[in-house]
Amino acid sequence: MKILLVGASGTIGSAVRNELAAHHNIISAGRNGADVTVDITSPESIKRMYHEVGKVDAVISTTGATHFGPLSELTPEDNEVSIMSKLKGQINLVLLGHHHVRDRGSFTLTTGIIMDDPILGGASAAMASGAVKAFVQSAAFEMPRGIRINNVSPNMLEESIKKYGPYFPGFVPVPASRVVQAYRKSVEGIQTGQTITVY
Ligand SMILES: NC(=O)c1ccc[n+]([C@@H]2O[C@H](COP(=O)([O-])OP(=O)(O)OC[C@H]3O[C@@H](n4cnc5c(N)ncnc54)[C@H](OP(=O)(O)O)[C@@H]3O)[C@@H](O)[C@H]2O)c1
Repeated sequence: MKILLVGASGTIGSAVRNELAAHHNIISAGRNGADVTVDITSPESIKRMYHEVGKVDAVISTTGATHFGPLSELTPEDNEVSIMSKLKGQINLVLLGHHHVRDRGSFTLTTGIIMDDPILGGASAAMASGAVKAFVQSAAFEMPRGIRINNVSPNMLEESIKKYGPYFPGFVPVPASRVVQAYRKSVEGIQTGQTITVY
């Protein structure tokens, strides 16, 4: 399959790329150093990316920035970070991209455990993930030409302990090697409308 992987250089994206590259043609996308440049916060940039890449069999998003911080200090501007990137950025990949996905292709978006299992300072990120999950669940019924759509919700990765460990007390991190199997299931399997959890 020809797979467009947005966020390919990240912790999850690079692991997904390594796993899927053996069997698929991966086109990497991101703001820096990728096969194709995209900023998912800009609809124009997303349109340009799809125009450049042409038809694909699957789109995977392993990106989406969020704001972390105490609720009492959360401003509308801070919250906008999560809305523009993790929420609207990922959803716009679908709205602007389904014409570019072949019949019976797929979209796989990324959410995260904190939408189901809250952490301190995680309300904005949880909001964005919860909205993406709800979108996926509904959109699956209306996707054209047998195109499937799922989201992968990982726990904190072992590879991200240094970055996120202090925010996730008592969470048992999961290795990237397990997380990538959820993406594989979404792309190569038959499910649609699902949240594939790796908790
Ligand atoms: N790591 C974890 O433990 C974990 C657990 C659960 C959920 N998640 C979620 O999984 C997603 C990826 O996490 P990660 O840890 O792999 O992140 P990461 O290492 O920071 O990687 C983010 C990737 O997205 C790209 N990116 C960032 N902003 C972008 C934009 N506006 N437009 C296009 N590309 C953009 C980055 O490349 P450029 O900077 O070059 O654009 C990079 O390739 C996030 O939504 C995160 O919340 C992560």
